[in-house]
Amino acid sequence: MTSILPHGGTLVQRIVQGEEREQLLQDSKNLNSLQINTWTISDLDLIGVGAFSPLQGFMNEEDYLSVVSRMRLADGTVWSIPITLAVNDQQADSLRKGETVALVGEADGVTYGLLEVQSIYKVDQAEEARRVFKTDDPEHPGVKKLLERPATYVGGPIQVLNRPKPAKFEDFYYDPAQTRKIFQDKGWRTVVGFQTRNPVHRAHEYIQKSAMEIVDALFLNPLVGETKSDDVPANVRMKSYLVLLENYYPANRAFLGVFPAAMRYAGPREAIFHAMVRKNYGCTHFIVGRDHAGVGDYYGTYEAQEIFSNFTAEELGITPLFFEHSFFCTKCGNMASSKTCPHDKEHHMTLSGTKVRGLLRNGECPPPEFTRPEVAEVLIEGMAEQVHS
Ligand code: ADX
Repeated sequence: MTSILPHGGTLVQRIVQGEEREQLLQDSKNLNSLQINTWTISDLDLIGVGAFSPLQGFMNEEDYLSVVSRMRLADGTVWSIPITLAVNDQQADSLRKGETVALVGEADGVTYGLLEVQSIYKVDQAEEARRVFKTDDPEHPGVKKLLERPATYVGGPIQVLNRPKPAKFEDFYYDPAQTRKIFQDKGWRTVVGFQTRNPVHRAHEYIQKSAMEIVDALFLNPLVGETKSDDVPANVRMKSYLVLLENYYPANRAFLGVFPAAMRYAGPREAIFHAMVRKNYGCTHFIVGRDHAGVGDYYGTYEAQEIFSNFTAEELGITPLFFEHSFFCTKCGNMASSKTCPHDKEHHMTLSGTKVRGLLRNGECPPPEFTRPEVAEVLIEGMAEQVHS
């Protein structure tokens, strides 16, 4: 049975329930409050359910500086992406170390959780951008988001009192404790996690199935939190995953569950983060292909694979499976990569994401060697609905 340890050794659990929750909600009415946006609500919830184990809360200054400079928490545990709570100057001035504040949704006024203020600190966001995103170009979508936030962060342990409600596809939300149990009940000893923010095209399917040849099962774990506006929306993608699984994957070897986190577009560093989180969900292996979590030309094609060599297998605790850029080769008559295909580039079918999205928006199916027709249909329909809604 899969018994992979969570990152740091213990699955964090900071969701409060029952009478204790009622009491804390009552008490929270007398606390100072901080308004939090959708992104922060999703981080809060992911910390609460242990997806971000070993984090117990938003990072304090010591952990933040350590993560930014050396991809480790202050205690040395591998961690590559700062998980922080930004506050404006006015909010920062009103906070005192040691106090507990209520975290309240800015859009709906719901008290999502509590934060025990351990650390209030000013940061150098340009430096954070250069370290984490390898650029401070404000055009980079992750850097843009970072620079839009105030430069004062507040850190400390959290408790979750209310969970964000999924607008759609509720059945595909699982907490790490649940996926761990499901994988165990299914008798899977090895499970490979697959991160995606895109529809699953043939290249994705090829690398997933190559991995499935050597492990017991696939955990298709699409990211459905905030993405940039030109990515295919999550609800359209979800329909495409379902139709693909139904038609092309053995039901007893593939499992679909969403990853409700925001996309950072941090390329190599995000690949490490994605792997650690999938370990918490119970995966033993994790797929990293070409330009994982990349955007534009900011990262080298295989940088997100190379970064893993900074850490030992024991420190990572999950096995990354690296895949070359894959494509359909018309001469091979197969999906392939430079590792398996001897033919010239002219025989390789590759389409950029932008080109594929353009085709789909015009109601045209990409070639079946690129996207399964069933998937293309769902995407065309979904994107047309988006335009008209
Ligand atoms: S992202 O979340 O990593 O940005 P994307 O959907 O683009 O999502 O990719 C999902 C996974 O498939 C990543 O590990 C990526 O490296 C890999 N991948 C995407 N396209 C290819 C390809 N043509 N060949 C090999 N790997 C790929």
